[in-house]
Order: sequence, then C-alpha cells, then structure tokens
Amino acid sequence: MKGIILAGGSATRLYPLSKAISKQIMPVYDKPMIYYPLSALMLAGIREVLVISTPRDLPMFEELLGDGSRIGMKLSYKVQLVPNGLAQAFVLGREFLNGEPGCLILGDNMFYGQHFGHMLKEAVESAEQGGACIFGYEVADPRAYGVVEFDQDGKVLSLEEKPAEPKSNYAVPGLYFYDATVCDKAAALQPSARGEYEITDLNKLYLAEGSLKVKLFSRGFAWLDTGNCDSLLEAGNFIATIQNRQGFYVSCIEEIAWRNGWISTDQLAALGKEMKTNYGRYLERLAGVKN
Ligand code: G1P
Repeated sequence: MKGIILAGGSATRLYPLSKAISKQIMPVYDKPMIYYPLSALMLAGIREVLVISTPRDLPMFEELLGDGSRIGMKLSYKVQLVPNGLAQAFVLGREFLNGEPGCLILGDNMFYGQHFGHMLKEAVESAEQGGACIFGYEVADPRAYGVVEFDQDGKVLSLEEKPAEPKSNYAVPGLYFYDATVCDKAAALQPSARGEYEITDLNKLYLAEGSLKVKLFSRGFAWLDTGNCDSLLEAGNFIATIQNRQGFYVSCIEEIAWRNGWISTDQLAALGKEMKTNYGRYLERLAGVKN
C-alpha cells in the first residue's frame, strides 16, 4: 500500500492567513499541519508517499520533508494545476501507485486517539484484499462533509457530499483506503454540479459494487478540522493540552519512524540534536541522550 497526501486548495476560509502560504504548512501548535496526516500514513505502515499540491506551494513541502530518507521513507511530489476535486489524486497519482492499492489522506485532516494505528492497519489489510475502506465519525453538524447513512444492521445505505439535509450525523473523514482498481475508477468519474471530481462519487462506485467498508471511530476519538481560524486554534490548543499533560508528542514523525524501525536510535538522536527546541529535546530523550 502506498499513500497520497492531497495538500492543495486555496483555503479561502482562512484568508488573509492563507493568502501567501499553504494552509497545510501552517503551525498546529508546534509542527506544520502536514505532519499530522503524514504521521497517520506512517502509523498505517505506509512508507512510500506522494504529496500533491499547487504549483506555488509544492516547493515548500519539498523543502520541509525532502525525499523522506531522514525518516526512513520515500517521498515524492506532484503538482495539481487545477483544484478540481479530491478524486483527481488518483488520476495524478496513477504512475506513482503503479498498480498498487492506495490510501488518500487530506493534508488538513488530523486524527488522534487510542487504537488508531490498529484501525489503520485493519483498513490497509481490508483494501489490500479488495474494495475500499473509509470511516464514519459522528459530528453535531455534518453538512460540510461527505455523509454516510446506515440501516439498523450497520449496512451502508447511502453516501452524499455536503447534503443540505443530512440523512445521518456520520461524517466521512478525509482518509480513504482503496484497492488497485482505484485509478481506473477515478478516471471514469464525471465532474459534479460544482465542477469537481468528488471523492464521494468514487466511494459510491465501491458502494454500488458492494465492496465499500465503513469503520466507525468511537466517541472520544478526535478527528479535528482546521478549516477556519477558530478550528485551527482549537486544534493547536488540543495538541498542546495532550502533549504538555502526558509528555508524549502527537504526530511526531521522527518518533513514529523510530518506533516503526525505519530509523535507528542514533539517527533519532542526530535529528533531535539539529533542533534547539523542546521538540529536539524530546527526540533526544526518546533516544536516551542525557541533556
Ligand atoms: C472533503 C470531502 C468530504 C469530506 C471532507 C473531510 O471536503 O469532499 O467528503 O467529508 O473533505 O475533511 P472539503 O473539506 O474538501 O470541502
């Protein structure tokens, strides 16, 4: 399984913050936003990742993350010239996936909670066996999201993109696992009324085929939004609260690489030494360096 992070868009809901800089590079407390979705892919065990962004912003992601070798990964980059929908990730990513199953995560989606790694690995396994695996998350107001409706037995009845009158409170987070047929399916999509190749339409193809699985995140699990200034600040405060209380960093890509066995303890210590911040000291502490 390979991974794709879609970090495009103009994020007009964050203007003037995002007028000159990509939203997905902005700080969420102590790290750039893209660290959070990248760490989700890493927790899923995905080592090869394509970052897709605008012509303006892509170089900044390359500057930030490089070829990934510092964290034992292989990262590559691709421009999306027109922001014409999330499903385009699998048109732009066809060559990169090269016939393999793929996971898409949106560059502004943040997840935090117990057993997340386990759920991700199950989703990888499920999509590798065939079909698609997506998630459902109960929210107070699902109108801004893809919405999934279930029957009493938990069978998926419908999927709708940003419905004015949602049939359930289950939003579909921006994290999707697909089998190897995903690129052909994405290429066959037609643009929606708002002119976009919708990820929800892609998921509907799997639903129609009877091969869509929806796993539910439980109460207490955090799926955070960073769409506007308030939710961005709230996400930052949430991360600060968790980190400062327990002393464990959330979505620390170097730590995950090390725990995955992708970099050695010496490499972790060296990465920590480069940074004169608490973040650097945290990496050194994990590596057993005495300060
Ligand atoms: C996109 C998808 C939507 C999904 C959401 C999750 O919407 O179209 O189905 O629920 O991401 O973040 P966007 O936020 O890009 O408008």
